[in-house]
Amino acid sequence: MDQFLITGSSRIAGEVTISGAKNAALPLLAAMILAETPTTLHNVPSLQDVRTLIRLIAGMGIDIQKQGDTVTCDTKSIDNFYAPYDLVKTMRASILVLGPLLARFGEAEVSLPGGCAIGSRPVDQHLKAFEAMGAHITVENGYVKAQAPKGGRLIGCNFSFDMITVGGTENVIMAAALAKGTTVLGNCALEPEVVDLANMLVAMGAKISGIGTATMTIEGVERLQGCEYSVVPDRIETGSYLAGALMTRGDVLAKKTNAALLYPVLEKFEAMGATITTGEDWIRAQMTVRPHPVDIRTQPHPGFPTDMQAQLMAICCLADGTSTIIENIFENRYMHVPELNRLGASIQVDGHTAVVKGVEHFTAAPVMATDLRASMSLVMAASAAEGESLIDRIYHIDRGYEDVENKLRALGVNIERINTND
Ligand code: UD1
Repeated sequence: MDQFLITGSSRIAGEVTISGAKNAALPLLAAMILAETPTTLHNVPSLQDVRTLIRLIAGMGIDIQKQGDTVTCDTKSIDNFYAPYDLVKTMRASILVLGPLLARFGEAEVSLPGGCAIGSRPVDQHLKAFEAMGAHITVENGYVKAQAPKGGRLIGCNFSFDMITVGGTENVIMAAALAKGTTVLGNCALEPEVVDLANMLVAMGAKISGIGTATMTIEGVERLQGCEYSVVPDRIETGSYLAGALMTRGDVLAKKTNAALLYPVLEKFEAMGATITTGEDWIRAQMTVRPHPVDIRTQPHPGFPTDMQAQLMAICCLADGTSTIIENIFENRYMHVPELNRLGASIQVDGHTAVVKGVEHFTAAPVMATDLRASMSLVMAASAAEGESLIDRIYHIDRGYEDVENKLRALGVNIERINTND
């Protein structure tokens, strides 16, 4: 199991090129299953989660290859509609193959997902929507078995999600794209990655209106064709590197990104004292003062993203006052708190609320990465801390941050990967 050895304290400054968004690439890869002719996807990040999903899709007999940041996929040799536990357990987003398989082939058997331990994270909304489209769903031995109604096609319906779910919205719009008739989906997630998926489906021939709004109308078509498409930049990766500038009085220029995807985060960065400048495809964060405290509530987009909560908290740890953070999306997303406290932070959690009393500096310590995004808050905090910090369980970071050590080194972080099997 790899570890990072980080020797601080570093001023995080320089340029970083942002990769395609993991959370967009995964649904776009799943959507490739829907196309009858070959699809090409560009700007796909090289990440563990992407490799897992490609293996999952290849296991169905589909010809799917990744070369550099381009994935090509031809579905004509598909010979099964099965997603095994071994692969699905490592990544919750695997459930996204269920909608496309069910819609196109009328059947699917997909293991119930695992993923980060940040909450129970059920998929009831996905299944409820498929049932509303006429599917027969059973859950047996940890597997979801889904069958389309007689005739083999799902049937368009009116369905409103009980809560806002990113993956649920994605799975159901993919299924509705090939359903018979029109589906009107209410209470949809508005995340940029959902919009990216809807746009790719349209490029494949889907008929979707209301993209980027809470109500999407999808007029089912009989078949979808392959297309050439490029994944949106990763707004969370962007925010994570910019956060480093705020923690170290640094100066980070993030390139190949999009400020429009990130404004709820950039607003908070400005409130903390950063100077943010943006261009068409870049964002620069400059920090010359100690961060000011802020209050944050995580919300579905366009609210403050839960995937930036840990990184924001790490900045608050160094603020000249007390910040309050409320996590509204996941019930167990404060596992990084004891680790940040080991690095000298002063954070107290009561239910969904974390109160962060600013301290002057972090102190080096051995810590353990707990989930994907939280890992990055620890890396940044360790970079800011004087001395050597060893971060364990960094496989979490490899799931979601492409080429992380090289990008951090280019920003002045003294980081080394240690392979404990050596
Ligand atoms: C996606 C992102 C993840 C992000 C999250 C919220 C991907 C691959 N992952 O996860 O990084 O943190 O959105 O922005 O895009 N829920 C249910 N029933 C359901 C579905 C969801 O109760 O059927 C609950 C979840 O347990 C959670 C909340 O709804 O508490 C939001 O989950 P959801 O938006 O579905 O997150 P994911 O799509 O899993």
